[in-house]
Amino acid sequence: MDDKQLVALAYEARERAYAPYSHFSVGAALLDVEGRAWQGCNIENAAFGPSVCAERTAFFKAVSEGARDFAAIAVLGGPAGGEIDPYTAPCGVCRQVMREFCNVDRFRIILAASRDEFRSHTLGELLPASFGPENLA
Ligand code: THU
Repeated sequence: MDDKQLVALAYEARERAYAPYSHFSVGAALLDVEGRAWQGCNIENAAFGPSVCAERTAFFKAVSEGARDFAAIAVLGGPAGGEIDPYTAPCGVCRQVMREFCNVDRFRIILAASRDEFRSHTLGELLPASFGPENLA
């Protein structure tokens, strides 16, 4: 699967966002090393605290089904019912969740401005000097 296809899956996932409070819809598509794609959307809650981001939805779906090795994630978001905001980036909590399962130099985070315009960063670029599982080994 190439980056454009992964971005298309993130667009599709965004259509299922449940964001009645922020009205900001996010979609993500996580690619594992076996070539499987895991889609996620943000899911908000009236109590606010239980809300979860699209990226973590995708990760928790994948990990709970046994996937452990990941290659890339496409992320995009913007006002509900509208176009995406260019290059919407993952929040800090989601970056830390990625850090638990992904190599900082190899895992790529693909940010999109449209279906055809996107750029990728390594996890290490977006989460430098990080704390991870090996710190507790
Ligand atoms: N959100 C995500 O799903 N991913 C991000 O990387 C940034 C923020 C969601 C959380 C909340 O439902 C809404 O966007 C506004 O913050």
